[in-house]
Amino acid sequence: MNNLLITGGCGFIGSNFIRYMLGREEFTGRIINVDSLTYAGNPESLADRVDAFADRYTFIRADICDGSQMAKIYDRHDVDAICHFAAESHVDRSIVSPDAFIQTNIVGTFNLLELARSHQDRLTLFHHVSTDEVFGSLGAEGYFTETTAYRPNSPYAASKAASDHLVRAYHKTYGLPITISNCSNNYGPYQFPEKLIPLMILNALEGKSLPVYGDGQNVRDWLYVTDHCDAVWKIMRDGQRGATYNIGGNTEKTNIEVVETICAILDEIAPDNDIGPRRDLIAFVTDRPGHDRRYAIDFAKLKQELGWSPAESFETGIRKTIQWYLDNMQWVQRVRSGEYQAWIKQHYG
Ligand code: NAD
Ligand code: TYD
Repeated sequence: MNNLLITGGCGFIGSNFIRYMLGREEFTGRIINVDSLTYAGNPESLADRVDAFADRYTFIRADICDGSQMAKIYDRHDVDAICHFAAESHVDRSIVSPDAFIQTNIVGTFNLLELARSHQDRLTLFHHVSTDEVFGSLGAEGYFTETTAYRPNSPYAASKAASDHLVRAYHKTYGLPITISNCSNNYGPYQFPEKLIPLMILNALEGKSLPVYGDGQNVRDWLYVTDHCDAVWKIMRDGQRGATYNIGGNTEKTNIEVVETICAILDEIAPDNDIGPRRDLIAFVTDRPGHDRRYAIDFAKLKQELGWSPAESFETGIRKTIQWYLDNMQWVQRVRSGEYQAWIKQHYG
């Protein structure tokens, strides 16, 4: 992998992955980050890497749905491997406006696959980053494995499921060298504050209401983002071509547990007499339509075949994450005020 194309590298996980890769001794290739800079894409998340890695890191603003622009980028940079993160990723937005999810997640992935197919002679790998949400919802018992049937419930999950099927089909039909990973909920630095954990941290910090959907008993499995990056890289390096791998954190929590933990840590490290105990800010609100009850991942295959396990526990990861938001209020302010988008407009039109 000399010229690795990363899509969606200005988003939450993509930017963490680029940091992770540029910090690895065994990876000496170049990274070409293609991102269209939707509301979720923020080049400021990688600002400190641009000069430090000027010879190995290139950012290009482009839409993965634009086949001809992507073909030019592919040729100009002699791409020989792809790690595909770009997506519309927020379930609530997919319920209100599914169109962009169909375009980016399905049509965009199809475009990339076609590009990869037409350059198959020099392609070493197409890694597709996906979610456990493709499997639908679990009851109180059981885990998702790599052979669990797909039963997506939200437009987001359905669009990711469709893209997974396309990637798999390109392997079976055309022999494209692919790997797929289905990961549980991520948290950590640079996550856009519409997702549960950063939203709750920032609202609690400011003494705003903490909206918990339904009864707060929905369960998610949480994984610290660097552990996800580590798993993706292990799969890219050593995973069987054509295989899918589940990635999980072994950390099932109800939403209310997560929110109460955030409140307790903030009360401890950033007490505020005007706000008082943060758990008093919790408000149970109308449930999300089609809200999946429980996700839980069995990642035995990844552990046994590639020796991966998460390094971070939820207890350490959530503290690190809260501290990161407290230490990076400038990034937060620029995201919340929309200043990051003004910067994008000024630099990229
Ligand atoms: P994100 O929303 O933070 O970032 C997505 C990035 O993709 C943004 O930078 C955005 O500008 C870019 N993008 C969107 N449409 C594009 C297009 N048409 N062309 C080029 N770039 C485009 O998402 P994330 O949370 O970092 O998720 C990254 C990937 O990981 C997604 O594929 C998602 O399905 C998957 N995933 C996420 C989680 C999670 O908990 N966040 C868990 C498992 C899997
Ligand atoms: P989210 O971060 O949107 O991830 P996903 O829907 O992909 O799992 O939500 C995580 C859980 O938190 C999910 O069960 C919905 C719930 N949730 C709330 O209760 N309140 C909120 O304001 C948000 C954004 C999510």
